[in-house]
Amino acid sequence: MRFNTIGIICAMDEEMEQVVLHLDHVHTVLEQAGLKFIEGTASGLTVYVVRCGIGKVNSALCSQIMIDKLDPDAVLNIGVAGALDDALEQGDILISRSAQQHDFDTSQLGDPKGIISRMDTSIFPADPDLIQAAEEAAEAAGLHYCLGKVVSGDQFIADEAKKNELIELFQGSCAEMEGAAMAHVCYLNRKPWVILRSISDKADGQAELSYPEFLPLATKRAGVLFQHIIEKL
Ligand code: ADE
Repeated sequence: MRFNTIGIICAMDEEMEQVVLHLDHVHTVLEQAGLKFIEGTASGLTVYVVRCGIGKVNSALCSQIMIDKLDPDAVLNIGVAGALDDALEQGDILISRSAQQHDFDTSQLGDPKGIISRMDTSIFPADPDLIQAAEEAAEAAGLHYCLGKVVSGDQFIADEAKKNELIELFQGSCAEMEGAAMAHVCYLNRKPWVILRSISDKADGQAELSYPEFLPLATKRAGVLFQHIIEKL
C-alpha cells in the first residue's frame, strides 16, 4: 500500500499501552506541549504513537504536531467508545466511514447542529484504503465490527435522551471525545485517516458502570485490531 509510516493517536495510557506492546525498537522521538511521541516498528512500517489526552482540543493539538513534525503517511485514532448502533456490543469494533463533532452548535444563528460555520464540510470522510485495511484486519482477527459515523464531543455520553439525539441528528454509530477533532485536522492537512474504536459501553444510563468494567476488554481488542491492520498497510 501507499503507507510506510503511520501515526497512532490514543487518548489514554490504557489505549496506548495496547498499541505499544505490538511494536519493536520503541524509543521517544519528540516531546512537545507535554506530549511524548514514541517511535517503533511493526511489520516493516515505522509507527509513531502518542497519548493525546482526553477531548477535542488535546486531540487537535496533538494531530497537528504529529503532522508538522513527524509527517506520517496516515494517522489512525485508536481507542474505546460508547456504542450508539444497537448492533455493537462491548468489545466490538467500529471502523469510521466519517466523523463529525456533535457539540458544535451555532443553531441560534440558523445553522443545523453539528455544522461548523463557514467550513466547506463538517462531516469528514475517512480514507477508503484505510477503511478497507481495517475491515480486512477485523476479519483476520475474528472481531465483530461495523462501519459507521463517529461522533465526537467534549462530553461523556451516559443517558438515553442524549444518545437518541446523537442517533437522530447525526446518525452516529459510536460516541467518543477525540476522533472527529483528529479527522478535522487531517482533513485540513490532506492527510489520510481512520478512527478505530472498540466498544466499552452503550452510552446509556449504564455507561458509567459499563465503561470501567469493559475498558480492559475494549482496549485489548483495539490493540489486537492494530496488530492486524499493521499487516495490511
Ligand atoms: N468513550 C467511551 N465511552 C464513551 C461515552 N459513552 N461517551 C463519550 N466517550 C466515550
